[in-house]
Amino acid sequence: MPVIAIDGPTASGKGTIATRLAAELGWHVLDSGALYRLTALACLRRGIGAADVAAAAAAARGLDVRFGARIYLEGEDVTDAIRDEAVGDLASRVAALQPVRDALLARQRAFREPAGLVADGRDMGTVVFPDADLKVFLVASARARAERRYKQLIEKGFSANLDTLLRDLEARDARDAQRASAPLVAAPDALKLDSSDLTIDQTVAQVLAWWRA
Ligand code: CDP
Repeated sequence: MPVIAIDGPTASGKGTIATRLAAELGWHVLDSGALYRLTALACLRRGIGAADVAAAAAAARGLDVRFGARIYLEGEDVTDAIRDEAVGDLASRVAALQPVRDALLARQRAFREPAGLVADGRDMGTVVFPDADLKVFLVASARARAERRYKQLIEKGFSANLDTLLRDLEARDARDAQRASAPLVAAPDALKLDSSDLTIDQTVAQVLAWWRA
């Protein structure tokens, strides 16, 4: 059951790269960020804030989700709703709570597939799949990431402002790096890949070359 772990900061292109890699290899994908976003959306709908640790952890434990071509929360298609910046912002706050992370751990490991899994997140190579066969730490400059996020949001029909996105992204980087629970760090055995000046194809090709080496 091979696993490729792709970790890195917000908007570094992990999702796109993970999806493309899985398609090339015929494997499944775990979008672990979606689980944190789903937890955040469930919290928003119940009026639970990140200060209420026990309630947020209970929401994470009790998540009623279905993954496929679309993502369902309690039977409702929330594929687009979880991409909203407000949901992303609360996701990064609830993700800082260790009980929430603990509640989602077994659920993430259950994605392991006989065919193979590309796991996308912050702690795939360090915590969730420390025995992953290949660990990639994907980075890109803050500006490159803000520009990508901007394009993504506009394409999805959301309104966006590049300067605001850049500021929010830097704030999220700081929060991800400084939080006490699972701060964003590369696994010691991860291979670093800076995609600032690479196309998606070039980035995917590099990871595939590492996998096949
Ligand atoms: O779009 P962005 O990369 O910011 O978010 P995401 O990958 O969809 O994840 C949403 C939030 O969940 C991030 O802000 C992370 O702080 C958190 N997260 C995490 O803590 N651990 C993971 N394995 C994945 C996401």
